[in-house]
Amino acid sequence: MVIKAQRGTKDIFGSETITWQWLVDNAKNVFQNADFKEIKTPIFEATELFNRGVGDSTDIVNKEMYTFCVGGANKDATSITLRPENTAGVVRCFIEHNLNRTPSPQKFWYFGPMFRYERPQAGRQRQFHQIGVEMFGVAEPTADAEIIMTAVEYLKSIGLGDLEVEINSLGCTKCKNEYKNSIKEVLKPYLKDLCDDCKMRYEKNPLRILDCKNEDCKKIFEKEEVKKVILNDYICEDCKEHFTKLQEYLNALNIKYSINKMLVRGLDYYNRTVFEIKSSALGSQSAVCGGGRYDGLVEMLGGAPTPAIGFAMGAERLFTLVEKKEQEKIDYFVVSSSSTEALKLVQKLRQNGKVADFDMQNRKFGKQLEKASKIAKSAIILGEDEISQGFYSVKNLLTGNQEKVTNFENLL
Ligand code: HAM
Repeated sequence: MVIKAQRGTKDIFGSETITWQWLVDNAKNVFQNADFKEIKTPIFEATELFNRGVGDSTDIVNKEMYTFCVGGANKDATSITLRPENTAGVVRCFIEHNLNRTPSPQKFWYFGPMFRYERPQAGRQRQFHQIGVEMFGVAEPTADAEIIMTAVEYLKSIGLGDLEVEINSLGCTKCKNEYKNSIKEVLKPYLKDLCDDCKMRYEKNPLRILDCKNEDCKKIFEKEEVKKVILNDYICEDCKEHFTKLQEYLNALNIKYSINKMLVRGLDYYNRTVFEIKSSALGSQSAVCGGGRYDGLVEMLGGAPTPAIGFAMGAERLFTLVEKKEQEKIDYFVVSSSSTEALKLVQKLRQNGKVADFDMQNRKFGKQLEKASKIAKSAIILGEDEISQGFYSVKNLLTGNQEKVTNFENLL
């Protein structure tokens, strides 16, 4: 039986890889311009990191993790999980290597695969890739502006400068808790009508109820008395000032945004600013980018109290939206009756930075030229005359013009 790729995973090959490389190259340029350093953390971590870090009221932890035990019945048996996201891993690394002792702010960017056992559909895979940044050490709203600006600049660099930016403030621990309590209070009479997930969220993290996509739950949120509480301006004066300042910065940067009071994000670690960047062209899975502040996470995972903020973008979703790049033709295809001469010339061309190839099966001239015209801009013909008299016949495969080149340097 033929073995196929797992449901929710995708092979990336051929010309698709050109667009992928371009997405990552742009990320590297834009992020490094803003002084973010690349960080690579392991693809699997201790399960506990995500249970505690991402939070046990989230769908990710409750339903979507690829968790398995290694070490068998051995006393060293450990539960590990393929990372469903990268913030928790970067925070773990930050704490483990005392990166708080390096000059602040500490700014990192990453690209890599993430794993979530979700029901696959357009824009939603079980193995997908994220391009993201995390920044530690700055509590001021300038950091929030810097992070949103970086996301928007990256999207601009790949031709997606006009997507919708939504922001919200969840408040700090104090005001968030008061808000949670009033949500619980107003939803109490409807508790039995909420979906099973929301019943669990009601106990563990009532804010996340607002993220529910269930139509019956949404109808409850539309009720006058519930809506009043949900849309209530509950955040405290400090959080309000932080949020207002952020808006001033975004206005000054000419970044268009809207405030979405229902935006609570699907992970537990957020406080104050949260944001998403969406594209209506993507259908139901419209978010290309999600992020926010997580000022309590470093301390919660055992580090010193450290404010932090970041975002991650779904690379597959970006891929769907961007104009696709084509494989460029190579510089030279060497057409020759002598494999040795062809090998030697290809080696020299490559050493000098030219993309060059030749026919390893040393087929007839006609076949070699046919191949050259498919993949190369020019053919270098090395026939008996060329080899004995020491020159190159260079055929421009776009125009058909052929010229005699006597000096290797003129090929470069
Ligand atoms: P998230 O919203 O779970 O946030 O994921 C960020 C982005 O990853 C989403 O907006 C989406 O584009 C993409 N994504 C998520 N799940 C899938 C999937 N199953 N298939 C395809 N794409 C997907 C986080 O992961 C946070 N760690 C972001 C963050 C970083 N917050 C602070 N720092």
